[in-house]
Order: sequence, then C-alpha cells, then structure tokens
Amino acid sequence: MGVAAEPIFAVSNRLPETALEALRDAGELRIDERSEAIPRANLLELVRGADAILTLLHDRVDEELLEAAGPQLRCVANVAVGYDNVDLEAAARRGVVVTNTPGVLDDATADLTLALILATTRRVVEGDRLIRAGRPWTWGMSFMLGSGLRGKLLGIVGLGGIGRRVAERARAFGMEIAYHSRHPASAEVVADLDAERLSLDQLLARADVLSLHCPLTPETHHLIGEAQLAAMKPGAVLINAARGPVVDEPALAAALAAGEIAAAGLDVYEHEPRVEPALLGLENVVLSPHLGSATVETRTAMAELAARNAISVLRGEGPLTPVASQ
Ligand code: DGY
Repeated sequence: MGVAAEPIFAVSNRLPETALEALRDAGELRIDERSEAIPRANLLELVRGADAILTLLHDRVDEELLEAAGPQLRCVANVAVGYDNVDLEAAARRGVVVTNTPGVLDDATADLTLALILATTRRVVEGDRLIRAGRPWTWGMSFMLGSGLRGKLLGIVGLGGIGRRVAERARAFGMEIAYHSRHPASAEVVADLDAERLSLDQLLARADVLSLHCPLTPETHHLIGEAQLAAMKPGAVLINAARGPVVDEPALAAALAAGEIAAAGLDVYEHEPRVEPALLGLENVVLSPHLGSATVETRTAMAELAARNAISVLRGEGPLTPVASQ
C-alpha cells in the first residue's frame, strides 16, 4: 500500500514565517519568494497540482488559474479581507472553498483611515512638501488653515468591521456618525456609535468627511463618480481605503482641481499600482500606497489566518472564515 502523498500548499508570495511554518508542518510548501507581485506565467506554473493556494489581492483567481491548478485543488485562501480578485462562481463550480481574512485587519485599516482623515483635514503632507521645497513660510493667522473634526459629520459607506472601527475612532475626535450600507447595522452597533442610517444621496449631501469601506462588487464599481462628487458639500473630504474602482479616479481629480470638494485621501487606486496622473500634481490629495493593513502584527495575523484556513479545509474540518457568499 502506498503512503498518502502530503498535501501541497502553493503560496504566491513571501509570507511571515509563522504562517509558512504552519504550512510546512501540514504538508509540502511550494512558494514564490519574490516580494513583488508574481508574474502570471509563474503563478500558473506554481499552482499546478496544488491542493490549496494562498493568494494575495493582486493575484487573479479565475477559470484559467483554477484549471492550471487541477481537479485536486480544494481551497483558495486569499490573504486579504477583500476578494474581488477571485471568481467565486468559477471556484464554486469546481467545489473549491474560498476564504479571506476578516477581522484581523480592522484596527490597522481604521488607523490608516484616521491618518488620511487627519492628513487631509490638517494639510499635513502639503505642509511637509512646502518645507521640503524650501518655500518661505511664517506662522500666520490664516496660514495653511485646515478644518477641525469636532462636531463634523463622518459619513461611512459600508459599516462592516473596518467601518465600525473607523467610526469608534472618529467618535473620540468628537465627530458625529452617519452611514450608508445595504443592511441596517445591529441595534447594538447603532447604539454604540449613535449612528444614523442614510441613503447615499443624503450621506453625500451631509457628510463633512465621506469614508469608503464597502467591498468592490459590480454594484459598488464607480459608486462615487462625477454626479456623486458634485452632490458632496464643497468643503467635504473623500477618503478611500477600500478598493480603488469604487471611485471614478479621473472624475475625482477633476472635482479636486475645480474645488468641488476640499480634499481626498486615497490608499487604493483604480488601476493599482498605477495612479491617475491628474491626481499627482494636486496639492489637496494625500496618496498612500495601499498601506491599510501594513503593520507587522496585522500582516502576520492575516497570513496565519489564511494558513489556518487552508490547513483546516484540507483536513476536512471546514474553513474558518469562508467568504461571505459561500
Ligand atoms: C484587504 O485585505 O483587502 C486589504 O485591502 C489589504 O490591505
């Protein structure tokens, strides 16, 4: 009788060591060690014969990739909470379980969101640029005025785990909270945050800071475009730490250039890592390179959760955090 072969875990990128150790203990680890995105051809080769694949948010998991892996594939563990890179129907057709990493990145992403809110409303990066450029400046009553947060309305689109953590932090800054989401938040969350549920139109008309925390789906693609930007308050700030395509980037650049809204803070981009060139020359936009979950603690927790998901599925114990629609 032959010895049962060890399951193969294909990992598309370097992950924190604790996650890799867990995978090595559970089977054979096949990994692409580069730190930048794996080229498509290498990814298709890497997954051949794998029982589980650990992917990053820029690895496209589609029919072609699932076919390349082969019929033994049982799990795709995405090392991200978002899973718009995965064709869920194609995975379901092949009986492949898809998991993500909810919860473990809520605090880090909320912290980064607050950093963008503060950087935009208080013009921190603009000030940094001014000093580095050696431009003359002096303290003045009307020099580089921003706007305060106390008493202002934070409008949150998508009151999931990250949206709620953002709201909690904003409350500590004295902000009022309103939100728009497909489903009403639980009575407990509403009471905790004292959050009012509004239609998107109402939120656009009333929010001083509009912060996006919804997943990217066909319904949320370009949720914020020319018409929505025009409907925002003139002094409002837009923050996007969700997914780039939720915002129509050229329309945003035009609205910022025309002063239709005061500023924007972006952590994600429509055609990542490319950034709409029209944004680059604007003073009133703060750009960070998709850093929402980028802390040592959070990336470790994400990788460990993805590894536990893959191992659990291959052991027949089921996924710990299957994606919402599975
Ligand atoms: C996610 O997990 O979807 C985040 O965008 C990663 O930072």
